[in-house]
Amino acid sequence: MDKPTLCLLVVAMAAPCITGAKLVKGQQSVPRPTMTTEGLISDKLWPGGVVPFVFSKAYSREDQARQLVLKAMAGFENSTCIRFVPRTTEKDFVIINSGIMKSCSAYIGNQHLGSQQILLNPASCFPNGNIGVAQHQLMHTLGFGHEQSRSDRDQFVDINWSNVAQANDSFPLSTEDTTFGEPYDFDSIMHAGMFENAIDKSIWTVRPKEKYRDKVIGQSIQLSGTDIRKINKMYKCPGHALPVPVTTADTKPDLLRKTRNSA
Ligand SMILES: *[C@@H]1O[C@H](CO)[C@@H](O)[C@H](O)[C@H]1NC(C)=O
Ligand SMILES: *[C@@H]1O[C@H](CO)[C@@H](O)[C@H](O)[C@H]1NC(C)=O
Ligand SMILES: *[C@@H]1O[C@H](CO)[C@@H](O)[C@H](O)[C@H]1NC(C)=O
Repeated sequence: MDKPTLCLLVVAMAAPCITGAKLVKGQQSVPRPTMTTEGLISDKLWPGGVVPFVFSKAYSREDQARQLVLKAMAGFENSTCIRFVPRTTEKDFVIINSGIMKSCSAYIGNQHLGSQQILLNPASCFPNGNIGVAQHQLMHTLGFGHEQSRSDRDQFVDINWSNVAQANDSFPLSTEDTTFGEPYDFDSIMHAGMFENAIDKSIWTVRPKEKYRDKVIGQSIQLSGTDIRKINKMYKCPGHALPVPVTTADTKPDLLRKTRNSA
């Protein structure tokens, strides 16, 4: 196992859907201090948007999970210039590993460690066969933190601190985020669900403010339109038109197709 630098390891925050909440919630590991940038720049990027990867030995026995990881990667490649490529001789690369304690976790950005792990436990990180939790972790790997850590989050969500476990480490507020001029995105795959890190798991910890009460947070199905735009901005993806804000999941496939065709 790598000895991860504590402050750079982001654990789980599996962003459960309302329906998937129970499934994912019980399986999260203890949160650790997180780096509080929402999107970080320059020295933590993967050159050319290319992320070399290998599967660990343990993972090579997990055929179904392996297919889901590849599908999660393909979801980035469909709409951004990011490419996940099997590692050959690249110095920095990621190892997809199954980890212990049912963890789903990743470092934020390219740590220049040589190898760095993404932990995706096959039994807990693909609830209902969804790839969203894996995409959440892959998006950490690309250099993004949590949406609810944005420095402006207090305008958009309330946090019920008295119900937050490890209050000092949960929901840190970023002081130096790079939001790429994108609006706060309740629909981000990087946004926590309502019961994230709850002490009493029947009571919310984070929820949209009154005037945004119709918003749903914690989707773990797919990248949002804004997630895609931010990735394209962070990696200066050439030829990737940036789709206009997407608000409903239904319109995404169309937009993505258009984006590709016009690229
Ligand atoms: C990516 O695009 C292909 C081809 O259009 C599609 O079959 C596949 O479902 C897409 N994958 C994801 C994860 O969005
Ligand atoms: C916040 O959580 C506490 C439990 O710690 C609960 O009693 C309280 O009702 C919650 N606040 C709101 C506004 O729901
Ligand atoms: C949390 O932070 C407060 C104030 O910074 C500090 O007094 C307290 O000891 C911390 N608690 C833990 C468990 O670290």
